[in-house]
Amino acid sequence: MIKVGILTSSDKGYAGERIDESGKLIAERAGEIPGEVIEYVIVPDEIEEIKYNLIQMSDVAKVDLILTTGGTGFSPRDITPEATLSVIDKIAPGIPEAMRAKSLEITNRAMLSRAVAGIRKKTLIINMPGSKKAVDECLDVIIPVLSHAIEILR
Ligand code: MTE
Repeated sequence: MIKVGILTSSDKGYAGERIDESGKLIAERAGEIPGEVIEYVIVPDEIEEIKYNLIQMSDVAKVDLILTTGGTGFSPRDITPEATLSVIDKIAPGIPEAMRAKSLEITNRAMLSRAVAGIRKKTLIINMPGSKKAVDECLDVIIPVLSHAIEILR
């Protein structure tokens, strides 16, 4: 079974002002990977908080896969891609390329996601946008390749 960590980056979610529908959706669909969610955190849009939790999930909890949601856009506080880039050893550009390509068939706003993906040690980290709809659409794109990706990483 693939060990999955979920990181939701949202100031409002962290403050309890918004229900984390997107993180919940990832948890609901993890079985399709097939994966098991062993870590789930909601953090504010703060680079150090995001980095700390990505490193903790990768190096301490040793999850195979971290799926993040939120903080990939153009708002001044959107910082998830930069946090991710600062903790990965290798980039995996094909994953966000595929998410954006497929998503552009649905909305031209897909080009506004700055999502990145990469590998830290044996953990694959993938950013997704913040909305539940976007997460659902991006999961449709990546779920079919995730088990193979993780198999190679092990
Ligand atoms: N991707 C898909 N598949 N579906 C969407 O509705 N929304 C876009 C984009 N990617 C969207 C999508 C929008 S409106 C934005 S602003 C960016 O993701 C960034 O979202 P974020 O700031 O919530 O991370």
